[in-house]
Amino acid sequence: MNISTSLTIALLRRTLGYFWPFRLYIAVAMAALGVVAVCTAGAAYLVQPALDEIFINKDKNALMFIPVLLIGIFLAKGVGLFIQKFLMSYCGLKVLERLRYELFAKIICLPVDFFGETRVGMLMSRIINDVNLISSSLPELLRIMQHSLTMIGLIGLIIYRDPKLAFWACLVFPLAIYPVVYFGRKLRKVGRNYQAKIADISSHLQEVFNGLRVVKAFAAEEKEKEKFAQASGNLVHISVKGAVYNQLSSPIMELIGALGAGLVIWYGGSEVIAGNRTPGEFFSFLAALVMLYDPFKSISQANNTIQQAMAGAERVFEILDSKELHEEQGGVLQYTSPFTGLRFENITFFYPGTSEPALKNINLHINAGERVAVVGLSGAGKTSLAHLIPRFHDAQQGRITINGHPIQDYTLSSLRTNIGIVSQDPFLFNLSVQDNIGYGQPKIEKSEIIKAAKAAYAHDFIMELSQGYDTVIGEKGVKLSGGQKQRLTIARAILKDPSLLILDEATSALDTESERMVQQALDNLMQDRTSLVIAHRLSTILSADRIVVMQQGAIISQGTNETLLVTCPLYAKLHQLQFQERK
Ligand SMILES: Nc1ncnc2c1ncn2[C@@H]1O[C@H](COP(=O)(O)OP(=O)(O)OP(=O)(O)O)[C@@H](O)[C@H]1O
Ligand SMILES: [Mg+2]
Repeated sequence: MNISTSLTIALLRRTLGYFWPFRLYIAVAMAALGVVAVCTAGAAYLVQPALDEIFINKDKNALMFIPVLLIGIFLAKGVGLFIQKFLMSYCGLKVLERLRYELFAKIICLPVDFFGETRVGMLMSRIINDVNLISSSLPELLRIMQHSLTMIGLIGLIIYRDPKLAFWACLVFPLAIYPVVYFGRKLRKVGRNYQAKIADISSHLQEVFNGLRVVKAFAAEEKEKEKFAQASGNLVHISVKGAVYNQLSSPIMELIGALGAGLVIWYGGSEVIAGNRTPGEFFSFLAALVMLYDPFKSISQANNTIQQAMAGAERVFEILDSKELHEEQGGVLQYTSPFTGLRFENITFFYPGTSEPALKNINLHINAGERVAVVGLSGAGKTSLAHLIPRFHDAQQGRITINGHPIQDYTLSSLRTNIGIVSQDPFLFNLSVQDNIGYGQPKIEKSEIIKAAKAAYAHDFIMELSQGYDTVIGEKGVKLSGGQKQRLTIARAILKDPSLLILDEATSALDTESERMVQQALDNLMQDRTSLVIAHRLSTILSADRIVVMQQGAIISQGTNETLLVTCPLYAKLHQLQFQERK
């Protein structure tokens, strides 16, 4: 047994585990397929009495009896087929539902880092396409079983009719096994490549559509067209290959079948002519042999489908099992307000796969009620510093404590619900205004949402939207200006009412009017709250109790505006830049 066969068996066993809850249905389906197999063999058997009794002996009783029996057999076969196919489709769809959910549940609990490294298109393709493939595995397996049973019935009949002839006919069969194995292997490889190319295309599409403005700004449409055409061409190339294998396997097997049938007719015909057999016996034999072809062909097709399903299973289980893809783990401590203090102790942090630390030996203490501003040039590490607090990333060295406990000790949900973050680039979901403000808080009253929106200076513009708080924003809805979006995210943070607020001010400049409104909204948000503000506006900097200056991942100075202006040349320079800009 080679590695790939044992892998296939392991994958298959694992996949079948998902069908275990439906074992009762499967048992019924199996009983139904037994009926189908018996009926098929029975129909072939009937050829002999039909021919010998009706056509040769001209028996009138048989004339009444046999056609009715034949109809009965096909009725039973039809009912059996329906029950079996319906139950199997049903189980397949239920398994599909469960696998899709498991995959989504696993992916959404992975750390933020994972989404930076992995292409989103690949993930989407796994959730949508690969899972789909898997769901057909058991139904196909049962199909193989059904056809195998039918084959056993038919082969039994052949042997019963003429053991010697059956022996010769069956000699041809091993010849036909080889293409089944060969095409199965090829198709599995094609299936794997196909899914990989689909993932390539979807991540390319996503990138291009998200970055459409950049594409247009650089007049890169032609280049993108070329890239897409190439990716699409690759996909077609693989599909064509798959189609060739798929379509070649049938005619080759048919040819092998014809070879067998030809030999049988020659031999059997000479036996009938010599008077050793009745024509009925011979035709019943031939009917069984011809009927054997269909299950045999179907088995090879089912085998191909299973191979493709296993290619999908391989990719899905790879994500479900991956040792590197740990779910985020929190502690057991419940974080409860009030907030008494946040401490960074000797924190050094690298982004995965980088050799330069983004944060170097950071020591910082924020007391309850304090407003601390962080300033520094772009890339200094301000956002990285902020993102360590809700554990979007974990530092490799040092520790961060809140209220005296390392943040790793708290449960993730209690830690995160008590920290409010307004980030640099406001993100809104494709939901109504109301649902965006109340995101993550399903039981909130509408009056609370309106109160938060008013405090964030968002109420007025919301009322001017066509459906007020029910207006859908984002992809399928109304577009908002940068300042409006920011005020909605501020309203969201106000509603959350966190004891510690992290504010990453947007770097993009707003016009004076929006700027003033955003500023007022922020003032409301920061009131009576401990806050860590990554500041780009001079007014925020000046209103802070303490200012922290960062450079290349390290804190180089701390103090008030007045002292820093004298002691820190970088701060003096930043201050001057801000001051000039906003004067
Ligand atoms: N996901 C990431 N993976 C690898 N490196 C990153 C990642 N995010 C940021 N960095 C790097 O870490 C350093 C600090 O980035 P950070 O975003 O913290 O800067 P910043 O001070 O917030 O800048 P800005 O003022 O422009 O927002 C930069 O050198 C940046 O290239
Ligand atoms: Mg930043």
